[in-house]
Amino acid sequence: MKSTEISVPERVYIETFGCQMNSNDSDRVLSILTSSCNGPGGYVKTGDPFSADLILLNTCSVRDKAEQKVYSLLGRFKPVKIERPSVIIAVLGCVAQQQGLKLLKRIPYLDMVVGTQNLHRIRELLIAVKNGSERVVAVEESLTIGEDEYTVPTKVDGPKAFVPIMRGCDNFCAYCIVPYTRGREVSRAAVDIIAEIKELASRGVKEVTLIGQNVNSYAPPATGGVKLNENFSALLKEVVAVDGVNRVRFVTSHPKDTSEELIALFGTERKIATSLHLPVQSGSNRLLKLMGRGYTVKEYLGKIDLLKEVKPGIALSSDIIVGFPGETDEDFSSTMALIERVRYDNLFSFKYSPRPGTRAALFDSQVDPAVASKRLQILQKRQRQISAEKSEALKGRYLEVLVEGASKGDKNELTGRTACNKVVNFPGSGSGFNVVPGDMIELLITDVYPNSLRGVYNERGLLCS
Ligand code: 5AD
Ligand code: SF4
Repeated sequence: MKSTEISVPERVYIETFGCQMNSNDSDRVLSILTSSCNGPGGYVKTGDPFSADLILLNTCSVRDKAEQKVYSLLGRFKPVKIERPSVIIAVLGCVAQQQGLKLLKRIPYLDMVVGTQNLHRIRELLIAVKNGSERVVAVEESLTIGEDEYTVPTKVDGPKAFVPIMRGCDNFCAYCIVPYTRGREVSRAAVDIIAEIKELASRGVKEVTLIGQNVNSYAPPATGGVKLNENFSALLKEVVAVDGVNRVRFVTSHPKDTSEELIALFGTERKIATSLHLPVQSGSNRLLKLMGRGYTVKEYLGKIDLLKEVKPGIALSSDIIVGFPGETDEDFSSTMALIERVRYDNLFSFKYSPRPGTRAALFDSQVDPAVASKRLQILQKRQRQISAEKSEALKGRYLEVLVEGASKGDKNELTGRTACNKVVNFPGSGSGFNVVPGDMIELLITDVYPNSLRGVYNERGLLCS
């Protein structure tokens, strides 16, 4: 088919794995494909891969399990391609970046491989495939952000939006594949970020989450030969000053780059949410060193204590890897001691997965997977208790909630999130209160469940909208 003929709305199915960067990439790819004003053709989104004309898998390779899922899904889509050869199947994201041409060789019915830095070219790449030229691999890397890389604004779907402020990572932690799949750290210009946030605010967005693999080391390029004295704290101050934005979050922070200046902002800037995700990875100094994390347990805890001091009640969350090469029972006990000391609200814990090309994959003291599984079980069991205790402590308290919309389980109920990032369900229509998505209200927390809270209206009702 020729490019000029791509005008009937075709159906696109997208499946996304992995982190918030990937979700945001998928949103931007969908924005490009579903907007008919931007070149030929426009797709409509479908939730059914078996009736789609274009199947996109936006992939993650941070652990082997995530990568294997992609291959098994591709196997499921093989009969679709046999039955309807015009269907286009594409692998996007981290596995695409890492495997490149090898992926086309391995999967003969695959049409496109589009890496993490070429997603904004999706339309042009699709046209090449449709023109019958050939199967396409686009995995070129760049040290600057392309002019059109972020021109498609983040999709607005409710009062919350994610805004990428940088891409890539330069930390090369010994276990991590991200620096290889997402390339070098490059920041967007602050003017572009602020313009995007103003645009989002004008479209009803009230909560903005700034995203990047390592947001604390935000450092925009020099413009017009002038290097601005801009760091993450300065950017954050500009973001909270945007009218209409009532709550600001950011993820992911690296403990070594979490400065005292940044921590102080939690105390002075009301709009910064009362929560922080600060991945520690291990409670053992020996392992932190082997991982190449750049901080000690003492330094990490110093920052945690400061955060708790400037923002009492701050909800902390973290990532932990168990079974990192060489991890002893003693190392694991240190990690358990750390979670007792910090008392995270929420913890994401993973069994170490060796990733090809990373330093740790070559360490010769790999831990028995059965031992790692046992440790993971012990850690997760204890964390479930701590999380439950932390939630229980919210019962009877008044919390500020951003209303997001109807609750998934019950259309008569509304749902929202507290500043400390907990889901709250509460009475919707018929409650006597006229509340709409985007409103900031105060709720009295009456019940606590494993994954959510239940609230009722405080007589003070609406806080701001
Ligand atoms: N094995 C297990 N977990 C990993 N992570 C990153 N790389 C690996 C790996 N090879 C975890 C880290 C990181 C989170 C996003 O994924 O905890 O913070
Ligand atoms: Fe991976 Fe470390 Fe970069 Fe995080 S900071 S993305 S764990 S290399």
